[in-house]
Amino acid sequence: MSSNQANPSRSLRDQDPEVANLLEREDARQSSTLTLIASENHCSQAVREACSSRITDKYAEGYPGKRYYGGCEVADQVEDLARTRAAKLFGAEEANVQPHSGSTANLAAMVALAGPNGRILGMALKAGGHLTHGHQKSHSGMLFSVHQYGVRGADGRIDLDEVRKLAKEHQPHVLIAGGSSYPRAIDYAAFASIAKEVGAKLLADIAHPAGLIAAGVMPSPVGIADVVTMTTHKTLRGPRGGLILCSKETAKLIHSAVFPGAQGGPLMHQIAGKAVAFGEALQPSFRAYQTRVRDNAAALANRLRDNGLDIVTGGTDSHIVLVDLRKAGVTGAEAEARALAAGLSVNKNAVPEDPLPPMVTSGLRLGTAAATTRGMGLPQIAQLADVILGLVRGEDPERHRKTVAALCAEFPMP
Ligand SMILES: Cc1ncc(COP(=O)(O)O)c(C=O)c1O
Repeated sequence: MSSNQANPSRSLRDQDPEVANLLEREDARQSSTLTLIASENHCSQAVREACSSRITDKYAEGYPGKRYYGGCEVADQVEDLARTRAAKLFGAEEANVQPHSGSTANLAAMVALAGPNGRILGMALKAGGHLTHGHQKSHSGMLFSVHQYGVRGADGRIDLDEVRKLAKEHQPHVLIAGGSSYPRAIDYAAFASIAKEVGAKLLADIAHPAGLIAAGVMPSPVGIADVVTMTTHKTLRGPRGGLILCSKETAKLIHSAVFPGAQGGPLMHQIAGKAVAFGEALQPSFRAYQTRVRDNAAALANRLRDNGLDIVTGGTDSHIVLVDLRKAGVTGAEAEARALAAGLSVNKNAVPEDPLPPMVTSGLRLGTAAATTRGMGLPQIAQLADVILGLVRGEDPERHRKTVAALCAEFPMP
């Protein structure tokens, strides 16, 4: 059989060396550079094995016990395991593990709670919110009537008085708490009381701090918010995907908003990976890991700040450190390019009241989840902070590349 004919039993390397080579290059890229991208992490080998299993072939539209396809007896058990573990991990009454992503989880939650053309109030993207919290170019901005709150220019924090004022003025059906670059703990009880005052439902999107919250290292919105959405691949350290938590009372609405509302067949291989990740997160070692993630982020923020960089909100309660580069005289895009040249993956990010456009920005968003997974602790974080300080000052990235490469070699990925 010639090499370009399909043979379903051949290995990827034998069947398709082109793709195999690209994936090997990605492995090499990840292991020889360091990700400080706040939304990334490295999941375990066990999670990756589950995600590449044959259950990827299985159609399982519906929910355990009520499927539109035969042969779902194993899929039912996998999904039940994932949702039971998710509910236990967060202390929630019900979990829906089917959302393909955080964006679909939010779409389903908003459709369930607000209905099409309903009113939503969320944090603006440029203030640290997420696209799916009402940005005009996302489904949320197209399907709902949107109003947005920001953060205080003076200290970068959410201004609850502004949230209340906007909520009273616009009477949203859904108030959203959570964001993508907000480094501080959120007062969910205060949000819930504002929601109650105006008859809104509270949606907490914990995509970023999910792992810290699961481990009890940050305060949880479960039992306070009506619905909680998240991604499973950031601090939670699972496979790429989404998760929704809610009460028994809201569950029916949520389940039908996910399927058939927002999606067709669930990605059973990803759900198997989620089950493994939730199992890992239920181990005591996960709490120790999340504590290190938070301590590393605090140490990173302190060292950058003590050496002259402005940190939005002055520090962090989570894995996120948002650096305001305006006084340093360098843009987010320039700092990102220098960091990449030194082997650090980071991303440029808007800061509160940023005068620069989104492809340039005045900020750098850093996160410690992936470096901590590689085993890095306070001494390595100090070295990384010094690399970032040097790069912002304009030192040659080549010089710092050696430090980063040595750290990567000493602390391999799982
Ligand atoms: C707060 C928040 N919600 C939702 C999402 C969307 O997740 P996904 O990229 O899986 O669609 C993200 C992703 O970065 C996020 O930060």
